[in-house]
Amino acid sequence: MSSMEHLIPVVSKLQDVLGALGQTTHLDLPQIVVVGGQSSGKSSVLENIVGRSFLPRGTGIVTRRPLVLQLFNTRQAPADVDEMPNKNRIIPPGGSAEEWGEFLHLPGKRMYDFADIRREIADETNRITGNNKGVDSTPINLKIFSPRVVSLTLVDLPGIAKVPVGDQPEDIERQINSMCMSFISNPNAIILAVTSANTDLANSDALKLAQAVDPEGLRTIGVLTKVDLMDEGTDCTEILLNQVIPLRRGYIAVVNRGQKDVVSDVSIRDGLKKEENFFRKHPIYSRDRSILSKCGTGRLSKNLNSILMHHIRDCLPDLKTRIAHMMADVQKELDTLGTAAESSNKTSRGGTLLSLLSKFATNFTKILDGHVGEDL
Ligand code: GDP
Ligand code: NA
Ligand code: MG
Repeated sequence: MSSMEHLIPVVSKLQDVLGALGQTTHLDLPQIVVVGGQSSGKSSVLENIVGRSFLPRGTGIVTRRPLVLQLFNTRQAPADVDEMPNKNRIIPPGGSAEEWGEFLHLPGKRMYDFADIRREIADETNRITGNNKGVDSTPINLKIFSPRVVSLTLVDLPGIAKVPVGDQPEDIERQINSMCMSFISNPNAIILAVTSANTDLANSDALKLAQAVDPEGLRTIGVLTKVDLMDEGTDCTEILLNQVIPLRRGYIAVVNRGQKDVVSDVSIRDGLKKEENFFRKHPIYSRDRSILSKCGTGRLSKNLNSILMHHIRDCLPDLKTRIAHMMADVQKELDTLGTAAESSNKTSRGGTLLSLLSKFATNFTKILDGHVGEDL
């Protein structure tokens, strides 16, 4: 179970409480936004976090429109997703009936094959931008429904390009910069600032952008990719120890699937195994607990998890107040009903709701405390 999956029961419980309160809105979890230079590994990092292979990846400018990816946990909100079932659905080998994607521009169409989803992202990118490397700020909106994801939003963005190629305009760098800024200036965004470890951190576009909107580094996580491609004899321990360009939340080093793995269709799971082995067997990174604890996609997910937990915890006081008000209202109504001898039916229903709410409130707080304790 990935660390993000630990959040599912907590968010589910919260959703139950919100449901009992008569709220149809979701819990507002922060968006996770990736920024960084071209081909630094942004799409690869996102895929590893989600645990599914479905984003176009590769050398050169592959991501050319923002992709707003909403993950929905189907165990939390079955009512939302059961309408409009596709007849004649074809589940691909390796796919499953309980996991699918839906594009905003293809309403009602469930796609069970993640390779189809990847193709559709590429096709829809080309429809708007042409296929000669143009970019466009109109987002592609994709929802992924699965029992194994945490309900939250991830944003994949084009990488910062310095020199125009193909049909790209002269001011390509400025255009992509402002696209990124529009997403990361949202104070509710968690910024994954991606830099490949085989380039100079001082020139990191990701860090420059992140520092512009989050100078205190409260919501920025530095991600070092391609650690496996560093020159022999060099390593990134100084960066990980926060001695180069310090970030309040620090850096995590990762190894994603390389171009060769992409071509030969290495699965995410195998990629993650390879990553784990890389760090565990590495003479430098494995030497020291304090360094090894900053390596790997699992660790990155744990850090995100902990940030999300804090966020949920910050939402709690307000939720508790709302529950208290609700309970007071129900109690008041019960008192009135009690004097008007008739509606015993209504009274018992009100009483049930009241006990339900207080049970939720207690249980939920317990669960959350348990999880926050475990993750921090
Ligand atoms: P993006 O342009 O920033 O979204 O980067 P992609 O995720 O598309 O990756 C660009 C290329 O770099 C792809 O060929 C990836 O397979 C490769 N790549 C990404 N991360 C790593 C890594 O950690 N190690 C290696 N060897 N290759 C990587
Ligand atoms: Na790329
Ligand atoms: Mg990309």
